[in-house]
Amino acid sequence: MEYIEVTGGNPLRGSIRPAAAKNSVLPLLAATLLCAQPCTLRRVPLLRDVQTSLDLLRAVGSGAAWAGQDLVTQPARQISGRVPTALAGAMRGSVFYLAPLLTRAGWAELPLPGGCRLGPRPIDIHLAGLTAMGAQVCAAAECVVLRRHGVLRGTDFALRLPSVGATLTLMLAACCAAGVTTLRGAACEPEIADTAAFLNACGAKITGAGTPVVCIRGTGGELLDGCVHTVLPDRIAAATYAAAAAIAGGRVTVTQCSPVWLAAFLDFLQGSGCEVARGENEFSITRDQDTKLRGGQELVAAAYPGLATDTAPLAAAVLLGAEGASRIYDGLFQNRFACAQGFAALGADAHSEGRLLYLGGSAKLHGATVTAPDLRGGAALVLAGLGVGDGSCVRVLDAGHIRRGYADLAGDLRRLGADCRAGRTGTEAGRQTKKL
Ligand code: EPZ
Repeated sequence: MEYIEVTGGNPLRGSIRPAAAKNSVLPLLAATLLCAQPCTLRRVPLLRDVQTSLDLLRAVGSGAAWAGQDLVTQPARQISGRVPTALAGAMRGSVFYLAPLLTRAGWAELPLPGGCRLGPRPIDIHLAGLTAMGAQVCAAAECVVLRRHGVLRGTDFALRLPSVGATLTLMLAACCAAGVTTLRGAACEPEIADTAAFLNACGAKITGAGTPVVCIRGTGGELLDGCVHTVLPDRIAAATYAAAAAIAGGRVTVTQCSPVWLAAFLDFLQGSGCEVARGENEFSITRDQDTKLRGGQELVAAAYPGLATDTAPLAAAVLLGAEGASRIYDGLFQNRFACAQGFAALGADAHSEGRLLYLGGSAKLHGATVTAPDLRGGAALVLAGLGVGDGSCVRVLDAGHIRRGYADLAGDLRRLGADCRAGRTGTEAGRQTKKL
């Protein structure tokens, strides 16, 4: 089993550039199935979900190869509509294949997508939109099967809520449909505008992406071309480095990333007592190790441009040692704060009730072995370890979750000065025993 170990106490110093955004790369890799020409995605991190996406592309008959840090996809002539169960179950991002497979193969079969266990994650909006475009949906308990008879047709569709995934699914489906699709109540996250920029560079005609109303003029059944695309930086990774500086103290500059994309999180850090310097395409976080952060906060995670749900556990890690009790409510996911148990094991007064996380504040944290419940919760436990001041070590087990979204979180923090390393238990120990 993979783990990350961290011993707090060191202030962080230096600068760091976030990798390409996971939540852009995953839909972009699925979108390449709509392209008749090769596509290049620049500086893609080797995340577990990226590896799963490459396996998935290969399984349906397409493929991509690394060229240094870039990924170059190969257009496929023959595409299968079936996503293997193990790959669907390995990541939520498998849902992005529904629309491209339906477009290319004429059918799509997707065993229910996996990913972080953040509470119920239905795909009814994806399916309602695709049905409105003419797809036939047979959803069984464990698998969704879609078919189309003829080309999908453009439609005027209002999303019941601004789902990021459903907005992407419908945007992808509309690119090669016949006629104009208008999506109302669409999600506005920067990754949606980034996916639209990629699709437009491939010849799609999308306007309004990044606003609640998106219009797509379909090609009427023609595939798109290819392009070379520099993916948006990962704003959640950027927030992770900013939170690390806030917890450990010191000064960290995040480069090649607009502070606008994580403005709500930076506002939170500023309100907690960190010094935040915002430039056009970089920002710095400074905190004196001797000053206490301010707690007493009521935070609400919401759709963009609100405080991103993926940053809510990171904000919690910042508030553990702050002066005064705080509460964080997650408006998107019912079980966002499974990391509360790990925080408590480190000595924090922390517990969650449904969507609410309660933090007593002023925690004197100590080392312990805890388990990453999910991607961001796991990253938050690693960050909490930076705030342990008694020289003891925090070991976060099940760190494979963390590698779904950060290629090397321990290495990133170490390069900024943290005493942090990644390792593996079980298999290594097992191998040694076998050798003996
Ligand atoms: C994306 O998930 C991200 N995942 C998540 O990142 C992120 O937390 C989330 O958007 C919100 O920003 C990927 O891009 C792979 P949603 P997604 O559809 O698309 C409900 C991370 O750590 N809903 O916007 O699944 C749903 O249950 C991850 O990087 C429906 O009810 O998010 C949830 O409560 C975790 N029906 C809410 O909407 C639907 O058909 C928001 O989900 C679709 C969604």
